[in-house]
Amino acid sequence: MGDQVFVSTHPLVQHKLALLRSNLTEPKKFRELVREIAQLLFYEATEDLSLAPLTVQTPLAPCEGFEVADRIGVIPILRAGLGMSEAIIDILPTVHVWHLGLYRDHETLQPVTYYNKLPSEPNIDLSLIVDPMLATGGSAVAAVDILKQWGSRRIKFLGLIAAPEGVQALTAAHPDVDIHLAAIDSFLNELGYIVPGLGDAGDRQFGTG
Ligand code: PRP
Ligand code: URA
Repeated sequence: MGDQVFVSTHPLVQHKLALLRSNLTEPKKFRELVREIAQLLFYEATEDLSLAPLTVQTPLAPCEGFEVADRIGVIPILRAGLGMSEAIIDILPTVHVWHLGLYRDHETLQPVTYYNKLPSEPNIDLSLIVDPMLATGGSAVAAVDILKQWGSRRIKFLGLIAAPEGVQALTAAHPDVDIHLAAIDSFLNELGYIVPGLGDAGDRQFGTG
């Protein structure tokens, strides 16, 4: 894989990923694991953020510190990205969350846009697309296309599990977009599911399917 693809080797991520994949994991626990892994990957994906100095007053004295200077937009791809964006806004409440509704047509596997909540002008320094699954890559490529047309210059993709086909499609279409993942699996099956994967990430979070 190219040098824009980062697969976490952190033991906590790998431990929680195995629990997430298990078909014994119920939706409540599944949502909790999505949140926790999303926060760990967000931590890893944001080590290059800019900081600005500030002074806080402790109970004893003034103290020099820092705050995140970059304005970050988190773009969850509905539905399955929702659990990740909620986890990220909890850990960094200054992010803006702009929802993007895309679903895969079950016959063609092509992404269809049905909701776009981006403001008219780009008002952020970094766009972070969040979606648990990078399968054919169609949804991620379409999301980056939309963000670039909107005017976003710095974009990262944060996902939980990818198929090699999805990584290939996204890196080929957008070589300037960093991709942060917990795992790259074996292959896509004939229905477009990642194997071994975890099944349908939306259904498993929301108890549907
Ligand atoms: C899933 C997933 C991605 C997409 C990935 O969403 O959350 O958005 O499939 O597939 P791709 O890489 O082949 O485009 P889905 O279309 O099932 O919608 P949902 O989240 O509403 O269930
Ligand atoms: N979307 C999912 O939710 N799971 C897959 O395996 C592929 C796409």
